[in-house]
Amino acid sequence: SRRELILAFETSCDETSVAVIESGRQILSNIIATQIKSHQRFGGVVPEVASRHHVEQILHCTDLALTEAQVGYEDLSAIAVTYGPGLVGSLLIGISAAKALAYAHHLPLLPINHLAGHIYAAQLVKPLVYPFMALVVSGGHTELVLVSAPNQFELLGETRDDAAGEAYDKIGRVLGINYPAGKEVDRLAHLGRDTFKFPRAMIDEDNFDFSFSGLKSAFINRVHHASQIGETLAREDLAASFQASVGEVLVTKTMHALAQYPVEQLVIAGGVAANQGLREMMSANLATNFPEIELIVPPLRLCGDNAAMIGAAAQVSLDTGAPAADLTLNADPSLDL
Ligand code: KG4
Ligand code: ZN
Repeated sequence: SRRELILAFETSCDETSVAVIESGRQILSNIIATQIKSHQRFGGVVPEVASRHHVEQILHCTDLALTEAQVGYEDLSAIAVTYGPGLVGSLLIGISAAKALAYAHHLPLLPINHLAGHIYAAQLVKPLVYPFMALVVSGGHTELVLVSAPNQFELLGETRDDAAGEAYDKIGRVLGINYPAGKEVDRLAHLGRDTFKFPRAMIDEDNFDFSFSGLKSAFINRVHHASQIGETLAREDLAASFQASVGEVLVTKTMHALAQYPVEQLVIAGGVAANQGLREMMSANLATNFPEIELIVPPLRLCGDNAAMIGAAAQVSLDTGAPAADLTLNADPSLDL
């Protein structure tokens, strides 16, 4: 049968990414131009700066993606693009490029939800078996999702305030770590111990929601109090204590969800899925409580924002006969799953 090739675009935040995916499983190219350096001096992503970078990068990334994959527009089955959630100005750059190319080359335009992309990054690693459970943890999201069938998402719970990655970035700043701080906090955490016993918010509540702003405040208050009385705290222990709290809440809620909804696979997705502590804690708890459930964690490059995951999700849209978008497609900054 004919090769099914999808050209995918992802510009929802601060990475400009273009990929070519074959049959929803194989990555022929996955170009990622990160803007982190431009945002670091502001301590976070500046939307206007992000949009400008996307404009400057997107055509070059597209050329690279096609060249590396060794395909031309005539080989493609469809063009896919993230249309939300994300920064509206950033999303619109990817959408404009995808629309123009779909129109010029008479290709269907597939609108993809960024969170579905994070979840279907797992499809690039392992064939998925429905229903499966997904924990999406990123700079903007903390969601526990039951995926009952292809593209059928049941949101079981989500954060009521900060996302997990956002909390990492905020406490990282207090520790003097550059944005995005998650990776460095993770490294420090492995050198320390959970001596502070920060709160585990909502851990005993009978729901699948999360809250991280109380933990963030407890952390910041503890550090400020110490500096006022001239006490020196070990950064490693602070990081380890923060990470233990985040991990314990995420893992405990996920275990409760798995007890209630029988599945064969658990996917962890999003930038925070790169967290070594979370991976270790999740796999240990899974081995103890649900040894028959398979844990799927995409490799680091597929955990952060990238277009390969958008191509993987787009193949699911093609397979399920989801309608293509027309040229009126707009960005939806607060799109739900
Ligand atoms: O998915 P992503 O690349 O972008 C969003 O859609 O938000 O996630 C970025 C987030 C940042 O908050 C970053 O600090 C966090 O993922 N992150 C980590 C680690 N690596 C990245 N958080 C904890 N541990 C890590 N190893
Ligand atoms: Zn993301």
